[in-house]
Amino acid sequence: MTIEINTVSFVGAGHMGQLIAVEAAIFEYSIRFYDIDPAALEQAKKSMRKAKRRKKDKVLKSVTYHDDLASAVKDVDLVIEAVPEILELKKEIFTEIDKAAPPHAIIATNSSSIPVSKIEDAVSRKDKVLNLHFYQPIQSSNMVDIMRGTQTSDETFETGKKWIESINCVPLVVKKECLGFVFNRIWHAVKKECLKIWAGSHADIETVDQAWKIWSGMPLGPFRMMDNVGLDVVYDIEMSYYNDSGNPQDKPPQALKDMIDRGELGVKSDKGFYVWREK
Ligand SMILES: NC(=O)c1ccc[n+]([C@@H]2O[C@H](COP(=O)([O-])OP(=O)(O)OC[C@H]3O[C@@H](n4cnc5c(N)ncnc54)[C@H](O)[C@@H]3O)[C@@H](O)[C@H]2O)c1
Repeated sequence: MTIEINTVSFVGAGHMGQLIAVEAAIFEYSIRFYDIDPAALEQAKKSMRKAKRRKKDKVLKSVTYHDDLASAVKDVDLVIEAVPEILELKKEIFTEIDKAAPPHAIIATNSSSIPVSKIEDAVSRKDKVLNLHFYQPIQSSNMVDIMRGTQTSDETFETGKKWIESINCVPLVVKKECLGFVFNRIWHAVKKECLKIWAGSHADIETVDQAWKIWSGMPLGPFRMMDNVGLDVVYDIEMSYYNDSGNPQDKPPQALKDMIDRGELGVKSDKGFYVWREK
């Protein structure tokens, strides 16, 4: 048994909220956006224009933009939370969603490193929560980690899997809770070692990226990918691993924090490991 999904709400209409919403809109889902930042909602409108172009200008199902959370989730079947990687913030948001969304709605987090079991106490519908973790770019990295909380029902899990497949993605099923899910854990190991090579001045970022591209056949190296993701997002994720393990080897280098403090966040701020646009 699965629940029918027609309308999906994105709480947090930043980078990932928009990317996932574009795929969902293309595959005929109605979309709701909520963000505390009006600029993010404006950007989401531009993303929806891209979705329309990808659909060869065919009309999208209804898309609405909200500056209050309750109206953005009141008539939906699935909510995808994509706010910053801060456990307390995610818990607060889950509680708000739980109060306002219809009882049948599933609440999923796109968190990169926080198991939903650490968030589930914030809601009463503990059987209807999931980790749905996307990779970017979604069209070419079309895989989604899917993981249960401690009380997630089979119905919720199967609905999540079916929804992932319905937007042309492959579900990566986590059988037993694991920090980093399936592929993100592998990616964490790669990032951690690359950052150490860079912070220790052992090699240039270009050399590392070149090595990765030759070995893996992928078009982008890890430093290019981290710039795309956003260095603030990368830092928060790496800190989650460190906080979980307590292992000093997992702590991201201070040099990465220094870049973030200088506002060097990657592509979104024009400079990160690479310079994207001269000011
Ligand atoms: N960037 C990636 O490649 C990537 C990949 C997979 C998963 N994730 C995860 O997705 C989540 C979002 O990451 P992102 O890269 O989209 O970040 P982002 O900074 O681009 O977007 C976050 C959005 O949340 C909004 N926000 C902040 N507080 C809010 C609140 N209280 N209520 C509503 N909106 C709020 C911000 O205004 C922003 O628009 C994180 O948990 C991250 O770990 C990121």
